[in-house]
Amino acid sequence: EKIIEFQQKLLQWYTENARILPWREDPSPYRVWISEIMLQQTRVETVKPYFERFIKEIPTIEDLAKLPEDRLLKLWEGLGYYSRAKNLKKAAQMIVEKFHGQLPSDSKSLQSLPGIGPYTSGAISSIAFGQRTPAIDGNVIRVMARILAEERNVDDPKVKKNIENALERLLPEHSVGDFNQALMELGATLCIPKGMPKCLQCPVNSFCKGYYQDMAQYLPRKSPK
Ligand code: ADE
Repeated sequence: EKIIEFQQKLLQWYTENARILPWREDPSPYRVWISEIMLQQTRVETVKPYFERFIKEIPTIEDLAKLPEDRLLKLWEGLGYYSRAKNLKKAAQMIVEKFHGQLPSDSKSLQSLPGIGPYTSGAISSIAFGQRTPAIDGNVIRVMARILAEERNVDDPKVKKNIENALERLLPEHSVGDFNQALMELGATLCIPKGMPKCLQCPVNSFCKGYYQDMAQYLPRKSPK
């Protein structure tokens, strides 16, 4: 039925159009974690070389737990938001002590670690562990607000809840990490925030209420800052 068709269209598009990114080639839990923390406040193109160097120099969680602060900050230089780096090391120490050196797979345990909130825990548990959890970042909020023609202000917590509920119905059993990344990719390449969204190229335009109502470009609604 419709949900299956939505999943197939989106996943097929992702298979054909996904950018080749270093953390996608080998989505091990450690690599997904490091990449998602870097991507929290930094663009994909900037993150790429930092990610490659970080993984080369600090290949395991144990290495990160033991990493001297000055080397850590040096590896992070240029990325900004240094609390991210300090939280990474603190979390690595907790993972060694409490989780036998392995990242936990469920989002509740992941969220007990510093630097990991609802978005990042959903990204790690779905991309690295295949768990059926949504990963709702700004891109995904925009894509879903358009699909649902959600006209309420996105700062209203009911809106995020509505998007979360919709995603819980839409997530596939398999390839859930690809599905979540496909939504991010759609937001980054077609369902863009500024300028006209490229709805004619969108694999799921036939499921998009915003497109049908010619409203996509005006969504999501935001309160003036
Ligand atoms: N931004 C945050 N996570 C991402 C991912 N896994 N792929 C592309 N962009 C992202």
